[in-house]
Amino acid sequence: MSISKVEDALSHEGTALIQRHGERLFPWVKPYYSDPLVLKEGKGVWVLDESGREYLDFFAGIVTTSVGHCHPHVVRRTWEQMKRLGHTSALYVTEQQVEVAETLTELAPGALNRTAFTNSGTEANETAIMAARIATGRSEIVALRHAYSGRSTLATGLTAHAPWKPLPTAVPGIVHARSPYPYRSPLGDEASEKEQTDFFVSDLVEVIETTTSGKPAALILEPIQGVGGFIVPPRGYLRRAAEVIRSYGGLLIVDEVQTGFGRTGHHWFGCEHSDVEPDIMVMAKGIANGFPVGATMATDEVAEAWTSLSISTFGGNPVSMAAAGATLEVMIEEQVPARAAERGEQLRRGLQELEGRYAWIGEARGMGLMQALEIVSPDDSRAPDPVRARALLEAALREGLLIGLGGLKGHVIRLGSSLLVTEEEVREAVVRLSRACESVA
Ligand SMILES: Cc1ncc(COP(=O)(O)O)c(C=O)c1O
Repeated sequence: MSISKVEDALSHEGTALIQRHGERLFPWVKPYYSDPLVLKEGKGVWVLDESGREYLDFFAGIVTTSVGHCHPHVVRRTWEQMKRLGHTSALYVTEQQVEVAETLTELAPGALNRTAFTNSGTEANETAIMAARIATGRSEIVALRHAYSGRSTLATGLTAHAPWKPLPTAVPGIVHARSPYPYRSPLGDEASEKEQTDFFVSDLVEVIETTTSGKPAALILEPIQGVGGFIVPPRGYLRRAAEVIRSYGGLLIVDEVQTGFGRTGHHWFGCEHSDVEPDIMVMAKGIANGFPVGATMATDEVAEAWTSLSISTFGGNPVSMAAAGATLEVMIEEQVPARAAERGEQLRRGLQELEGRYAWIGEARGMGLMQALEIVSPDDSRAPDPVRARALLEAALREGLLIGLGGLKGHVIRLGSSLLVTEEEVREAVVRLSRACESVA
């Protein structure tokens, strides 16, 4: 068969698969792109589609393949574990689970000595909220607008993002304070970072005093709001927010599902940039390079308050734990916080150049390898422009670059590659993104 005939046959196969996907999966299992991408293989920061075309993956399965696709050490350890013992349930002790819990305590800030393993960020947040309610004997939870916490009934209640809330908040006692979102702050660009912090902190206080009993169980927040569009709070906000919730007797839950494990550069966790020690910390995504692992860490005091029965059949599964253990080993060996800081700065310089070139890029922002472009109307209105953002997503695909969308209106471009991305790969991603921008300008 000629090469063009082989390509035709493969593309026909791909189209048929997309059709079968549409027929058999729930409609919300919705792939990106007008012509969905069928992926077959991955290695490092690169993935291959069914026709053999290569793409630079700068979204990493939603900031998850932290050490790159099919990292050999992760593959080897999980494969070996799979052959030896694939499942135990939480009724038995395994070395793999204990070792990962010990490593997490070494890496985490403060005194987070205890871990409960589950299978996703959603479940890890569920566990965190339940732990906070049990430990405090209180029920009200303060979350932030623009937050994303997962897809369960409770997690969609914590989420403050209409497109991701299929039902109204069904769990009582959840209130939302303003998102510390400087680009969209009513104070405008003239306000200093301190003024912005004061404004958002005073809103948090007001929400606690006017919409709760004054006795909240916890405040839950992401150090950088991920799905919200990589919203970086003004410096000082996290620290002051922690002081506020504690002054009302509540606990601080930090959701590090996206920001954890060096993603934000320099530190292992996003909250460490603000010198904040949470009472409860939530992790998932990058912890096991794509294997389904959620982890909720807590202080001894919080964990020990939970004396009733609870179980996760798959939580702490030896294969998932082998994947997490191997991923953590690679991350420690490669010193990913420092690498993410360096490569993140390089990426950011590229994004800033694009921001200077196009009036429709409202802001380039982020920390480490968590960088975003907010796409807006080119006049001064800052109106979100999801149409151009989506066009840019598609144009990037044509250039062989995978990126992500986020933001309330789906108008923020998100970039979050493997933390082991090289200088050359970042340079190449910026070149491809720049060509994509040109084509939608
Ligand atoms: C900050 C944050 N928390 C929780 C979740 C939910 O994680 P999962 O999709 O693994 O349930 C996500 C997912 O995007 C997230 O970004």
